[in-house]
Amino acid sequence: MSTGTNKRRIAVIGGDGIGPEVCAEALKVVAAAGVDLATTAFDLGASRYQRDGSVLPDAVLEELRGYDAILLGAVGPPVGDTSVPPGTLERGLLLRLRFELDLYVNLRPFAGVPGSIAQGADFVVIRENTEGTYAGEGGFLRRGTPHEVATQGSVNTRMGVERCVRFAFELADRRPAHHLTLVHKTNVLTFAGDLWNRTVTEVSPEFPDVTWDYNHVDAACIYLVEQPRRYDVIVTDNLFGDILTDLAGAVSGGIGFAASANLNPARTGPSLFEPVHGAAHDIAGKGVANPLAAIHSAALMLDHLGESDAAGRILKALSEQSDTMTISTDPLSTTAVGDAIAERL
Ligand code: IPM
Ligand code: MN
Repeated sequence: MSTGTNKRRIAVIGGDGIGPEVCAEALKVVAAAGVDLATTAFDLGASRYQRDGSVLPDAVLEELRGYDAILLGAVGPPVGDTSVPPGTLERGLLLRLRFELDLYVNLRPFAGVPGSIAQGADFVVIRENTEGTYAGEGGFLRRGTPHEVATQGSVNTRMGVERCVRFAFELADRRPAHHLTLVHKTNVLTFAGDLWNRTVTEVSPEFPDVTWDYNHVDAACIYLVEQPRRYDVIVTDNLFGDILTDLAGAVSGGIGFAASANLNPARTGPSLFEPVHGAAHDIAGKGVANPLAAIHSAALMLDHLGESDAAGRILKALSEQSDTMTISTDPLSTTAVGDAIAERL
């Protein structure tokens, strides 16, 4: 348990829509678990951009580097609001934080809730988080003309792939099933796929207790729906990981349950924890947003900060609570779910 003298300093980016509501429940549960955090709110996201045009000022980025961790709710304008051009917050805020803070692992755990397609499944997707098509390589030639060319390359470095693969093996080694699945598209993406496959093959002897196999990403989409229990740890590139984790969330009970940890395992800066879901302006302020993903993300944050006892208690309470919230359950109020978890601690 933290003492008053070594309180962890947490930057909280509540963001837009339901972001602040779900963050508040996450912080409520952390406090109920007995961890005393020193939180500082940062005003970033669509509403900040609409107000003064700033996305992530350099000075704010530098300030964020000094925190122990960052908890983020959700950022983005309402659907159909064109005042924030596409990519502004994605590239300018979320991806900039991932790249600048070297958050090279995006860890997304899934446990199927009762009644979901993936009921009984328990797996983690390790998504590479700083490279691939997200790196921003490419550009236009002759834009706006009939001879326009647009390219968007996929950047895969041996260093970037290997550190992510090694993290995934280490995780699989600690889990009971000891199994890793590489997901890619090696039959078509023969350059990047070859690098990924060779890296997994070459790292695997360091983990003799971990078995591993390979799935093409299109086949993995079928398996996630038809046999999700086959998975333990999945490791994959940035774009495949983005798509697969939305599917994994959907089959596990809904994206409202999906948590994520954007990790800098080398600890050269703070890691960032956020629910996978977006700002959901349509339900914002109604008190019906599911806060479980944000609470789970906060538990991942505590675990990363060495508060593994509190994290474990929150995870246990979360799983008990999720078991009562089948996919057919009427929406509970956001604060009632936070309170129910806090009471279980
Ligand atoms: C996610 C989101 C982001 C991504 C967007 C908002 C940039 O979809 O965290 O999965 O594509 O990584
Ligand atoms: Mn996504």
